[in-house]
Amino acid sequence: MTDKLIIFDTTLRDGEQSPGASMTRDEKLRIARQLERLKVDVIEAGFAASSNGDFEAVRAIAQAIKDSTVCSLARANDRDIGRAAEALKGAARSRIHTFIATSELHMEKKLRMTREQVLEQAKLSVRFARQHCDDIEFSPEDGYRSDPDFLCRVLEAVIAEGATTINIPDTVGYAVPELYGEFIRTLRERIPNSGRAIWSVHCHNDLGMAVANSLAGVKIGGARQVECTINGLGERAGNCSLEEIVMAVRTRRDYFGLDIGIDTTQIVPASRMVSQTTGFVVQPNKAVVGANAFAHASGIHQDGVLKARDTYEIMRAEDVGWAANKIVLGKLSGRNAFKQRLQDLGIEMESEAEVNAAFMRFKDLADRKAEIFDEDIIALVSDESVTAEQEHYRLLSLAQRSETGERPHARVAFAAGGVELHADSDGNGPVDASLKAIESKVNSGAEMVLYSVNAITSGSTESQGEVTVRLQHGGRVVNGVGADPDIVVASAKAYLSALNKLHSKAERVAAQG
Ligand code: KIV
Ligand code: ZN
Repeated sequence: MTDKLIIFDTTLRDGEQSPGASMTRDEKLRIARQLERLKVDVIEAGFAASSNGDFEAVRAIAQAIKDSTVCSLARANDRDIGRAAEALKGAARSRIHTFIATSELHMEKKLRMTREQVLEQAKLSVRFARQHCDDIEFSPEDGYRSDPDFLCRVLEAVIAEGATTINIPDTVGYAVPELYGEFIRTLRERIPNSGRAIWSVHCHNDLGMAVANSLAGVKIGGARQVECTINGLGERAGNCSLEEIVMAVRTRRDYFGLDIGIDTTQIVPASRMVSQTTGFVVQPNKAVVGANAFAHASGIHQDGVLKARDTYEIMRAEDVGWAANKIVLGKLSGRNAFKQRLQDLGIEMESEAEVNAAFMRFKDLADRKAEIFDEDIIALVSDESVTAEQEHYRLLSLAQRSETGERPHARVAFAAGGVELHADSDGNGPVDASLKAIESKVNSGAEMVLYSVNAITSGSTESQGEVTVRLQHGGRVVNGVGADPDIVVASAKAYLSALNKLHSKAERVAAQG
């Protein structure tokens, strides 16, 4: 029998907790379908009790996904577990993931509970969860900073109650590889019933060691599940990155000796989709999915790769999905070809009217851009995927004038709750002028904490510009993304998209709050 490493993806739960990364139900569903194509074993779809929106997202994903187990997070209480169970009803395969903090610091300062109360609560929760589902994961939050003696008592008790996976979070990214690996090995050795559960690692990247710690948890500790996110998305410095873990274990199979069920050719499409949906741009030198990951700039390297690619390449670009960046459609493509491509990309439209609207936008784009790539289509439907309720602001038109030596000026027309507004402003540059014009009417008072422009596809100037704008207001952080061949227009779209998110009142409960 082969030894398999279970890949548990938490992009839609822990990844989404990153300020500004929150996604709509439809966006989450689209990413879940891509995760299924990637063949991840478990998709943590959300935290059903945190908001109605997340409940609906978990429910939709549970209904749609057939090949991966769908999981919901739940705090260790009956209400959260009940909501998780309800959202997961009807799933082909489901898991409830319940957690409670076990470190002295968290128990005393955050939960204000004694050790005995936490132990009791953990047992009751797993017992209750087992009444709804056979597949139960238990996490002692801040587990790595917990007293090992106490942790052994809690974990032995929850396994006895029926927990099937035990996950050890390094919640604050404090661990170092050898110590984390040994920590897990010690727990497994000391807990008499440890063999009845699968052991899992969950590492945050505060010291840049999430992947190394997870690998040590597997190699030294004997864990057989890794919790990770696409692009390492997640709060603060993020979570362990899926693409790095998967490619490390696969490329160094000689060392790890483990099988993984992932279809690696879906890695880059998944990375692009998550980045485009959340507005969290992937750094060019990021392992596996960064734009430079397979680019050889130096003459010596180029020469070597041309003679024999394994002189400087340990993985093949096409094996992780880089070849997928091909022209798919153009100006002459018809509605059926467009619809087929949407299906191939796993994008489901709810009605023919939605397909028609997306097709009109596609035609509009194809008039201005000769080659349409998959990424262009994803960007196009990302724009489209906001519901009428979320889309309070919408760009109608933009004109700007800039000339060397002159102060740029912009005139913007946009809809605000169905009312057409016109605004003028000058600014340091055309983008500044356009956003100032919008702000002069909206008066959001939001602070811009990030503005970035990227080429969606190849580095060429024919690519669409994709702009991310991050706004902060009243304790909330939101990301807006806009794409257009004209980066001034893309900027205005991104700004209005961020304003739409600020405008929507959806509140979330922090999973670790
Ligand atoms: O980092 C953490 O502790 C978590 C738990 C809720 C599993 O994300
Ligand atoms: Zn976490």
